[in-house]
Amino acid sequence: MTGLLPLCYILGSVSFIMGLKMMSHPATARRGNGIAAAGMALAILGTLFLYRQQGQHLRHYVWIGLGLLVGSVVGVVAARKVKMTSMPEMVSLFNGMGGACAALISISEFRHQGVAGPFVLAGMFIGSISFSGSMIAWGKLSGHIKDVAFKGQHFLNNGLLALLLAACIYEGFAQNLLMVYLIAGVALVYGVLFVMPIGGADMPVVISLLNSFTGVAAACGGFLYHNPVMLTGGILVGSAGTILTILMCKAMNRSLLNVLLGSFGGGASVQGGPVGGAYKELSLSDASVVLAYAREVMIVPGYGLAVAQAQHVCHELEKLLESKGVNVQYAIHPVAGRMPGHMNVLLAEADVSYDKLLEMERANDAFPNTDVVLVLGANDVVNPAAQTDPSSPIYGMPILEVEKAKLVVVNKRSMKPGYAGIENQLFFQPKTSMLFGDAKSVLQQLIASIKENG
Ligand code: TAP
Repeated sequence: MTGLLPLCYILGSVSFIMGLKMMSHPATARRGNGIAAAGMALAILGTLFLYRQQGQHLRHYVWIGLGLLVGSVVGVVAARKVKMTSMPEMVSLFNGMGGACAALISISEFRHQGVAGPFVLAGMFIGSISFSGSMIAWGKLSGHIKDVAFKGQHFLNNGLLALLLAACIYEGFAQNLLMVYLIAGVALVYGVLFVMPIGGADMPVVISLLNSFTGVAAACGGFLYHNPVMLTGGILVGSAGTILTILMCKAMNRSLLNVLLGSFGGGASVQGGPVGGAYKELSLSDASVVLAYAREVMIVPGYGLAVAQAQHVCHELEKLLESKGVNVQYAIHPVAGRMPGHMNVLLAEADVSYDKLLEMERANDAFPNTDVVLVLGANDVVNPAAQTDPSSPIYGMPILEVEKAKLVVVNKRSMKPGYAGIENQLFFQPKTSMLFGDAKSVLQQLIASIKENG
């Protein structure tokens, strides 16, 4: 390495760390992404033009240039065109490409050096699983592939995994090229079978897990090439993916094993204590009066708001109420919706100010001083059974304690349960009123009614 190249790598590594840190807040996330991308560009350009092996430059610049061009054009076009709701699919697709890269690096290194060391084997094994698993996840999220579960599937999967690990250990001694291809092939099949049975709505957790696999596979490449920037990038992706997976499981109060065994959500029937009784309905005009005359309103967005694509009209209602002197804020549950940060992304798209978004703890502190909570297409994240019913599958999941407010208005289309498939006692409480209808159309009518009443 020439003297400048290590500097490029250090700057690249620092930019990844800074970028990741900045991505933890919506206000700095965009800039963080840009800084990390600039660091990546510096590391690539440094490698291309400053790297020397036995005094020689890299060769095949035309091929490398073509690869960079095609990858950059496809990446930019795809990222510009993707809809917010299709973001998990794209993350999955890109993640799969990373896994495939790591696996191909391992295979080509084995072909060059003829040695299948631990990093070659781990990169190929983990990268292949990440690639095929991510492709299945993409297919399921985009509706091209259905969940496929059969009896004995987990037994088969565990058997395959054990076989793969044994084959890797054997290959460590045998150093056989055919065996390398065989391990890659079986790992690809394992990736498919691993993701196939997992319920559609659990896919974000699986994508985040596969993301961490890709990070680990890329870090193996870093060890192989003694390349510090690849190592830093891989370790950051691996650890961030693992932490995100754990946080999502915690926020849903489920173990990772439970997610992987697909025993919850996606329409599965689940336990829970008896719920029921009479519920109150509120008319649109009453709801508009209640909102317009409140001092403090807290909006709780959920999956239904995303489905209805009601974020813009929701922001419109917020502005209208604020113009009447009402203080409007949003209570954001970490797993409201179906992907990490779903509500933040959705509301940011509608230009809702970040200062108005309260994280769960702050929102729970604010509810006692709130006049009206308007729940828009949220269900599980406001279900008190999580705190009161030990037999409930969501028992222990932290929730937004909306019943601490003076009045709760719940908008959804029916009394049907949410993702966890359980009823919600909140809907039957004396201070709760139901406002039925599609979130977007209800919000539009609320705005019209408030304007009409001056
Ligand atoms: P849910 O519990 O799924 O409830 C959403 C509610 O929205 C439903 O009860 C549905 O009732 C209503 N709805 C659907 N379409 C609507 C529309 N067009 N207009 C108005 N309402 C509509 O959502 P949540 O409270 O956001 O909770 C999220 C759930 O997803 C949690 O259980 C969480 O564990 C799980 N999950 C989240 C993630 C991440 S990372 N966010 C990942 C995996 C799983 P109707 O059918 O009666 O309208």
